[in-house]
Amino acid sequence: MIESSDLRLMRIPLSHGAGQMPALGFGTLIPDAALTITATRDALDAGFRHFDCAERYGNEREVGKALQAGLAAGVIARGDIFVTTKLWNSNHRPERVEPAFEASLGRLGLDYLDLYLIHTPFAFQPGDNQDPRDADGNVLYDRGVTLLDTWRAMESLVDHGKCRAIGLSDIGLDEVKTIYESARIKPAVVQVESHPYLPEWELLEFCKEKGVVLLAFAPLGHGMKPGLLEDPVISGIAARVGKTPAQVLLAWAVQRGTALLTTPRSAERARENFDISALPADAFEEINRIQTRQRLNPVVNTGVPGFIPQAK
Ligand SMILES: NC(=O)c1ccc[n+]([C@@H]2O[C@H](COP(=O)([O-])OP(=O)(O)OC[C@H]3O[C@@H](n4cnc5c(N)ncnc54)[C@H](OP(=O)(O)O)[C@@H]3O)[C@@H](O)[C@H]2O)c1
Repeated sequence: MIESSDLRLMRIPLSHGAGQMPALGFGTLIPDAALTITATRDALDAGFRHFDCAERYGNEREVGKALQAGLAAGVIARGDIFVTTKLWNSNHRPERVEPAFEASLGRLGLDYLDLYLIHTPFAFQPGDNQDPRDADGNVLYDRGVTLLDTWRAMESLVDHGKCRAIGLSDIGLDEVKTIYESARIKPAVVQVESHPYLPEWELLEFCKEKGVVLLAFAPLGHGMKPGLLEDPVISGIAARVGKTPAQVLLAWAVQRGTALLTTPRSAERARENFDISALPADAFEEINRIQTRQRLNPVVNTGVPGFIPQAK
């Protein structure tokens, strides 16, 4: 358990000297374009320096606009921020990887990425349709490419110097191990759903042993109610330590050694979610003892996005 009192500024080293990832990350899965810009700007203002994007979210241009505004105003320098985006399922064919990467980079208005992830291990029919289906509505998967083929193309991006680190997302431990063992450049990060109802201890242990960062999404359980934010253990601790349930959940995630992604959509929530501090050991242990087990996002089973937040 990490006891550092300033969790807000924690940075986790990436393997192969690929820099450091700020533990507290802002996720940009926001369906509304205008809200993407304001929420990203508010996150920057609150202190977030880690931004998680994806080709699939359809808003890299808007995230880029907000980041460019911060860079132009001198609020941040490029080296102060850590920017990730993700390769979508319909671009797994090796010859599609670099063009997809360059297109994302162009939309974000950046000249390098800190991290590029394979969004899910599922290859869809290659092409510009992000959601290819047959006449019955079944997803059209691409059996002509393996995850390792795609990984090799990701490794070339690092070789070419436009991307500092590469990783995986929405994947189970066995598949992570397979790629890890065959990779020339090992995955630096694995992004998966993780929170007290889905702690993924075994995957976290593997990641720690190998120097891979586990990057947790849904640390607040996607904000679903009833859910984690109303869990009696979490609200009890929040009352005891004088923090909000969201702050307790985010602190727990950082203290167990993961990085996290949260998506506050207002300035007030951005400040709240950034303002975390370390929990006492007894509170940390109490959260570890929660017995409820629940996966909220089924994307890991099919590659189909399982949770799309509602536009406000
Ligand atoms: N790899 C993948 O497949 C995958 C899948 C999902 C997400 N992600 C990434 O993870 C990021 C995080 O998304 P998430 O849904 O997992 O984030 P989250 O922080 O667990 O949940 C966000 C939800 O929590 C609510 N919320 C935020 N701060 C709050 C607070 N202080 N108090 C009460 N409610 C609060 C928000 O409500 P309001 O909107 O009302 O503020 C929103 O509905 C995404 O943006 C994306 O970058 C990746």
